[in-house]
Amino acid sequence: MPGPASASERRQSVRTGVVWTAIHELLARPEADPSTQARIIDIGGGTGGFAVPLAALGHRVEVIDPSPDALAALGRRARESGVADRITGQQGDLADLADLVEEADLVLCHGVLEVVDDPAAALATIAGVLRPGGHLSLLVAQRHAAVVARAMAGHFQAARELLDNPSTGRGGRRFTLDELEPLLAGAGLATTSVHAVRVFADLVPGALLDSEPGAAAALVELEQAVSSRPDFFPLATQLHVLARH
Ligand SMILES: C[S@@+](CC[C@H](N)C(=O)[O-])C[C@H]1O[C@@H](n2cnc3c(N)ncnc32)[C@H](O)[C@@H]1O
Repeated sequence: MPGPASASERRQSVRTGVVWTAIHELLARPEADPSTQARIIDIGGGTGGFAVPLAALGHRVEVIDPSPDALAALGRRARESGVADRITGQQGDLADLADLVEEADLVLCHGVLEVVDDPAAALATIAGVLRPGGHLSLLVAQRHAAVVARAMAGHFQAARELLDNPSTGRGGRRFTLDELEPLLAGAGLATTSVHAVRVFADLVPGALLDSEPGAAAALVELEQAVSSRPDFFPLATQLHVLARH
């Protein structure tokens, strides 16, 4: 039986629960054959926070990332989790994806569109490696929430700058849903679902989640409950979009 979750595991589940639910539902659709492994590419997959659990579900995952340190950590994590035979890590850039991988059923692009030079070209490159009917799981920083966060921290000038300019600040570009939808459509990707991610998670003090029994689980439930309500999209730190090729 698994032991009680650590504080960092609880925070992680609050931050990523909505994304996991959407990906699990996608991989468990009736038309998805449970006897076959999905071929998954995690572009900018870093240290394998998504890749390793997906491999543990039985899927074959290929992580492409420019960072050798991240890939080394991915390798360690995959070995420790007993899934090294289902994960490969390859050093590379999203721009070169077509030369690095075969066709995929699912491409994860989480936290990467913010930092590439040309988001439209990046999405077209991803579409080019998806099989017809394959899906993109896209997770990006959402701009309106970042404006509010800056203002709440007293950084009013920075908030004002971010309001109309998606590319200011250390975190790279931040998107609104209105900007994402035409970008995806331009790459031949049809949005099938949008979820608000981290609507409350970054506002709630971590100490509360650590000290209050059941608080983290209740917050995961609340995040889930608002995630598909469009009124909450502008409040979300991130947007998660599933799009079909
Ligand atoms: C914010 S991290 C996200 C890591 C992981 N996808 C996640 O959600 O936990 C961004 C990752 O993108 C990688 N990256 C940065 N520029 C990239 C590019 N041009 N092509 C592919 N990956 C890139 C970084 O090395 C880093 O691992």
